[in-house]
Amino acid sequence: MLKFLLSLVFLISFSYGQDGKILFIKHNCNSCHHPFERKTGPSFKEISQRYGTSKSAIEKVAKLIIKPKPSNWPGFAYMPPYNIPYEEALKLAEYVLIHSQKEKPSRVYDNSVEESEHF
Ligand code: HEC
Repeated sequence: MLKFLLSLVFLISFSYGQDGKILFIKHNCNSCHHPFERKTGPSFKEISQRYGTSKSAIEKVAKLIIKPKPSNWPGFAYMPPYNIPYEEALKLAEYVLIHSQKEKPSRVYDNSVEESEHF
C-alpha cells in the first residue's frame, strides 16, 4: 500500500506529459520519429493532425503503438510492434499527439541525443 502511494505521488509529481517523453526516449522512438520532421517514420505533427487529440484518439494511437498497422502510412517502412503495457502506450500516445507538439523545435534534437545516452 505504501509502495502504491509512493508511486502515485511519484507519478503525480512528474509534470503531466513528461513521463510520456521519458518513455519516448527510453524506447528509442526518437531513432525513427521527430515531433516535427519526417524520419524513418512520420512526424508526430502529421500523426497528430490525422488523429486529433481527443481521448479516443489517444486510445486508438496507443493500440497502434502496440500493434502498428503499416497500411495506415503507405510509402513508409514498417514500425516494429511494441510489447509494452497499455498504460505506457497511452502515455506515449499522449506525448505523440499532444505534448510533443509543445516542444521547442530548436531543442528537440539536442535533447533526445543527450538524454538517450543516459538510458
Ligand atoms: C524502426 C523505426 C521506428 C521506431 C523505433 C518507432 N517507430 Fe513509430 N513508426 C515507424 C514507421 C515506419 C511508421 C509508419 C508505418 C507504420 O505505421 O508501420 C510509424 C508509425 C507510428 C505511428 C502512427 C501509427 C498509425 O498507424 O497511424 C505512431 C503513433 C508511432 N509510430 C509511434 C511510435 C512510438 C511511440 C515509438 C516508440 C515506442 C515508435 N513509434 C518507434 C517507425 C518506427
